[in-house]
Amino acid sequence: MEVDRRAFFATLGSTAVIAAMPDEEKAEALEHYMTGMLDQQATGNELLVRRGTGDLFGSQPNGPQGPTGGPRPVKTLEPMPEKPTLLDFFKYRFAPATHVLQSATDAMKKGEKEETILACLMHDVVLNMIKVDHGWWGAQMIEPYVSEKVSWAIRHHQALRFYPDESVGYSYPEQYIKKTYDFARNHKWYMEARMITVHDLYAFQPDMKVSLDPFIDIIGRHFKQPKEGLGFDGSPTAHMWRTMIFPDHPL
Ligand SMILES: [Fe+2]
Ligand SMILES: [Fe+2]
Repeated sequence: MEVDRRAFFATLGSTAVIAAMPDEEKAEALEHYMTGMLDQQATGNELLVRRGTGDLFGSQPNGPQGPTGGPRPVKTLEPMPEKPTLLDFFKYRFAPATHVLQSATDAMKKGEKEETILACLMHDVVLNMIKVDHGWWGAQMIEPYVSEKVSWAIRHHQALRFYPDESVGYSYPEQYIKKTYDFARNHKWYMEARMITVHDLYAFQPDMKVSLDPFIDIIGRHFKQPKEGLGFDGSPTAHMWRTMIFPDHPL
């Protein structure tokens, strides 16, 4: 059976998690993954959503099937306030947001600048809406509300995070990722994007308790909250926020 190594590693988590995994555990995970694929082939189950679909739309972050073998149901969502703020999005659409909170907590502990902490806090929230090309989508979505440096860093973390991964078995990245990497590597803001991937490595710790509270002031200082509410301010990316407010609207 052909295994897409990259898709398999993506189900395991970050590079650090994979590197820390004993070989037997990796082998077991691979077996589990292949069993899932086989089951899927045997039952003729097809993916209900594309793998690049965001979590709010019912994609399944840990592989094609849920723990009971069936597809995972979509998340139940509460309605949003009339003029939603970024904090409302964290509460009603991004929660529990453990990964980004852990990244930002790590960045804060290590004394990073406020903009770097904000970039860590925001670097993967777009995965709730869409996963494919998440660096680009994520940067674009927040571009009207943050400094150019923050959105630049988020756009490029996607390419940078591939680079150390060859050591754990990622196949060589696609050509456009390589081009983006070369571009980012030579840019004056290279380190801004690189720091996101540095704090990403520490960001999957099951026992680490996190909260949004330490970041509220940083958001206040570096995120331009529109008074009409995110989604209703007429910005070039307002529709993206509305997409997450009303993911069930068919048109
Ligand atoms: Fe990411
Ligand atoms: Fe991440």
